[in-house]
Amino acid sequence: MNELSLHILDIVQNSVAARAKHIEIDVLEDKEKDRLEIRVKDDGAGMTPELLKNVTDPFVTTRTTRKVGLGIPLLKFAAESTGGSFSIESEVGKGTVIDAVFTLSHIDRAPLGNMAETMESLVVTNPEIEFTYKRQVGEKRFMLSTEEMKTVLGGLPISSPEVLMWVKDTVNENEKELNGGA
Ligand SMILES: Nc1ncnc2c1ncn2[C@@H]1O[C@H](COP(=O)(O)OP(=O)(O)OP(=O)(O)O)[C@@H](O)[C@H]1O
Ligand SMILES: [Mg+2]
Repeated sequence: MNELSLHILDIVQNSVAARAKHIEIDVLEDKEKDRLEIRVKDDGAGMTPELLKNVTDPFVTTRTTRKVGLGIPLLKFAAESTGGSFSIESEVGKGTVIDAVFTLSHIDRAPLGNMAETMESLVVTNPEIEFTYKRQVGEKRFMLSTEEMKTVLGGLPISSPEVLMWVKDTVNENEKELNGGA
């Protein structure tokens, strides 16, 4: 995967599959510390300690005959390839936090990609889930909350074309603003 937004989409699909009701996606960038952090936090089913132990290693997990995919190992590899780090916290019945840290300036660090499309597709396919997207570049911040949006929208469905267009435009415009100037 050559864009971080695609890794994010993949990791969030795990949260959706774990029947999360709230999913928070943080993309935090700090040029001074030369660091980009992706955090996905959910209140889904969580993982047992045994699954948690195996989930980052595709080889161990194939040997146990349990079918396990590559979403988590790929993100871990992508982060560690840049000299970054990767961790998962998870508890059955509570939820999961995935944390991937990249070295911002590393040649192998993939570009963020299109977070507007990622958020749009998450909202359209999971209108009942509450998403919070937090984006930070240095001191500049942006936040999108579907819970807040729903109160403002009244009866208008969050997955209606007008609203989706707004989500996409808002994420795109803010991304430009966060990267512009400073
Ligand atoms: N947020 C989560 N909550 C609960 N379980 C999770 C979560 N994320 C991953 N898992 C568990 O870990 C397994 C491995 O996740 P991973 O994303 O690596 O592969 P996959 O989702 O099975 O397949 P793929 O991502 O390749 O389609 C999942 O099948 C699921 O059992
Ligand atoms: Mg997955």
